[in-house]
Amino acid sequence: MIASAFLIAKRQITQLILRRSLATRHNRLTLPPTILKEHFGGSKTKRLASADFGKDATAGSDLQRAVSFVQPCLKEELLCKYSEPVRDCCHKVTVVGSGMAGVACVHSLLFQQITSHVALVDAFPKKLEGEGMDLVHGSIFLDDPRVEFDTDFCITSNSKVVVICAGVRPSKGETRLDLAQRNAEIMKTIIPILTGYSPNAVFLVVSNPVDILAWVTWKVSGLPANRVIGSGTLLDSARFRYLIADRIGIAPKSVHATIIGEHGESLVPLWSGVNVAGVQFRDILPNIGLETDEERWFEIPKEVIRLGPMVRCLKGYTNTAVGLSTADIVRAILSNSQRVIPVSTMIQGHHDVCHEMYLSLPCTLGENGVTNIVRMRITEFEKKLFRTSANLVYDVQKDIKIS
Ligand SMILES: NC(=O)c1ccc[n+]([C@@H]2O[C@H](COP(=O)([O-])OP(=O)(O)OC[C@H]3O[C@@H](n4cnc5c(N)ncnc54)[C@H](O)[C@@H]3O)[C@@H](O)[C@H]2O)c1
Repeated sequence: MIASAFLIAKRQITQLILRRSLATRHNRLTLPPTILKEHFGGSKTKRLASADFGKDATAGSDLQRAVSFVQPCLKEELLCKYSEPVRDCCHKVTVVGSGMAGVACVHSLLFQQITSHVALVDAFPKKLEGEGMDLVHGSIFLDDPRVEFDTDFCITSNSKVVVICAGVRPSKGETRLDLAQRNAEIMKTIIPILTGYSPNAVFLVVSNPVDILAWVTWKVSGLPANRVIGSGTLLDSARFRYLIADRIGIAPKSVHATIIGEHGESLVPLWSGVNVAGVQFRDILPNIGLETDEERWFEIPKEVIRLGPMVRCLKGYTNTAVGLSTADIVRAILSNSQRVIPVSTMIQGHHDVCHEMYLSLPCTLGENGVTNIVRMRITEFEKKLFRTSANLVYDVQKDIKIS
């Protein structure tokens, strides 16, 4: 009897030590990962309860005493508690969805030190935990950020920015409306939970179709429109600037060019504003971007539309550029910079669009989300394209069920 009790105790001590070392390495996790629970046989409650062992080393059975033996805690020997650390720092960012896009966002945020506190949540644990663990193992190379990951959305509390990258990819033969409705269902489930935990956050939607889902998020959340943004055409504008720059052999940052409208096939390139160092391309080539343009610059926006699907076709998904562009928006918000960035926002009343809907226009961004929408001086032709884009998006949006 005694021998078997000691054998059990020995096994439990080993398990405890293993759990302890895991808990130490993951002491930033509010809740332990489910995969680890599976591997080491401990449930969440068990692991938390292990901290109570050994309150009285002389009491209880041999088994209890043997377990208690490991309790003298190095942490308490080493550290004299002075006060509770602040749980959620003032630049906490939540990313929902640990898929390709979500993880690229987290990498961009942490690698560029835009924030030092990220909470990554997903409905499914396996990839989430793999990505989370992989990331925390690199902590020392990133200035020790605080990284939390869990399927429990409680870890998102008090976020300053919530980035939504959760979603399903289009299945074969699926219409835009079907995909929009499926992803809208996900928004309807997660947004109320997220707003409950972070009522003061700015919500940044990346999931596609981004304009419609940003509108769904705004409707479902009940937040003011300035605090719900879609990543919109920032990425399209970056691709536009890259392709123009590549053609003339200068750095993309030195090309000033914007795409507005839908993040999708009806995007609107603003050729009337493209310039380098203030030199307007239209002054050099008055029909630039039009079908009559002999230099065929009009092919560039068509290529911008093709680039996303092309990258997806080659590597299976797109993530690096969307991660970088999303992180850039988050940076502008956290630093309250008032930078002008094309993002998806509520555009009702702009350029004669009367629908209540989201599309991209250049906006100033700060801690409060969108603070201004730039009144673009665009041509009648560009205005017409913008309204066509709005009608195409609204045609899908109007059939989305949000209640
Ligand atoms: N706006 C852009 O420029 C852009 C670029 C790339 C991808 N995207 C979009 O981002 C979204 C994600 O793309 P991805 O490549 O990362 O897809 P993915 O399939 O790799 O990841 C999606 C993740 O969402 C999670 N998820 C699904 N339902 C959830 C829920 N209810 N709660 C929490 N998590 C949930 C999944 O578990 C998965 O991990 C897609 O809608 C995609 O179209 C947008």
